Amino acid sequence: MDASLHAERLLSTRRSGYSLPQGFYNDPMLFDVDMKILFHHDWLFAGHTCEIPDTGDFLTFRAGAAEAIVVRGADGDIRAFHNACRHRGSRICQADKGSVPRLVCPYHQWTYDLDGRLLFARDMGPGFDPAGHALKPVHCETTAGYIFVCFAEAAPDFGPLRTRIEPYLAPHRLEQAKVAHQTSIVERGNWKLVWENNRECYHCSGSHPELCRTFSDGPTVTGVERADSDAGLRAHWDRCNAAGLPSAFSISDDGQYRVMRAPLLGDTESFTLSGRPASVKPLGGVAEPRIGTLMLFHYPSTWNHLLRDHAISFQVTPLGPQETRLTTKWLVHEDALEGTDYDVQALTEVWNATNDQDRRLIEQNQLGVNSPAYEPGPYSPDHENGVAQFVDWYCAALSARLGGSKRLVAAE
Ligand code: FES
Ligand SMILES: [Fe+2]
Repeated sequence: MDASLHAERLLSTRRSGYSLPQGFYNDPMLFDVDMKILFHHDWLFAGHTCEIPDTGDFLTFRAGAAEAIVVRGADGDIRAFHNACRHRGSRICQADKGSVPRLVCPYHQWTYDLDGRLLFARDMGPGFDPAGHALKPVHCETTAGYIFVCFAEAAPDFGPLRTRIEPYLAPHRLEQAKVAHQTSIVERGNWKLVWENNRECYHCSGSHPELCRTFSDGPTVTGVERADSDAGLRAHWDRCNAAGLPSAFSISDDGQYRVMRAPLLGDTESFTLSGRPASVKPLGGVAEPRIGTLMLFHYPSTWNHLLRDHAISFQVTPLGPQETRLTTKWLVHEDALEGTDYDVQALTEVWNATNDQDRRLIEQNQLGVNSPAYEPGPYSPDHENGVAQFVDWYCAALSARLGGSKRLVAAE
């Protein structure tokens, strides 16, 4: 059956306010649809600008069959190219990160400049045109230390995303940060189960003793409704706004991304077991002590916490219908010294524990969803309005784009 027709049929059986029909969580055909019309259409978080500070520094970023080389050029600009050689298609960069003077294909040594131009191709004959064999570009934008790429031929306008989130992120000056630690874990669950788990804290009190020392499980913090009517949140926004930190709940018209700053519990200041800062050098030199956490999500690839002393980015990479990689990066001020200004254990233990707890929940969720007994169940209107919002965004995006995907599938 045509994959997009299959997706449309299943979408038509979906009940609003309920978890999705089973196939959306485990059907390989629908996974391919997700990759084609979401992950190969939307802007995706690829990494941080501070990870590639110098000319020739690169990182690679994969989404399904597509992979980008994200590299800083001699002019200081960051660009992205498909990691596929224009000779016979070999992958060029095989490392997650590195630094090179030029991009050299390991197969026959075709050599590209950092701006993608083909500089050298041995013995290709007199009629060969190097200009026609530059690396294929991938759309690439940066905002406040975040690198986004888009694999689509025509990328959605990046402007609205930048306009909404940059004022919130910029005071943290992540361009002057460094990755103090990173982990990648594979969760045996569909990427949408990973997101559904993230978009509620209905499960937090039962599963996250470390996180619950500092993070509120209140639905106005995690969800997308009634934040404006939460007096505690409003007082926090007023205090942070007065300190020059935009903080109020702000969500895009289509629901794809949201920013908001929320207070941590009591007098705690950071996601540590003690509640004390994990790093003594504040990011961006933020003077105000208790600014809580600035939360950004951007479907389908990233959620983030930016605190005063450190920031954490989470990157969602689907690997298969029932397998997702979660990459977590902890960032501190670039001048902070490990062992003196911060301790990696204290910095990472809360979210390492939380990620592992969530992994277990998601894996059990996947196994239950695979059962013949599974049928979509109702979301809690109070605690799971954020999950409902994610699923609504997903269904709306899929539905709106399926016309285009039909042409894609038919052309294959
Ligand atoms: S495939 Fe890259 S040089 Fe031959
Ligand atoms: Fe969780």
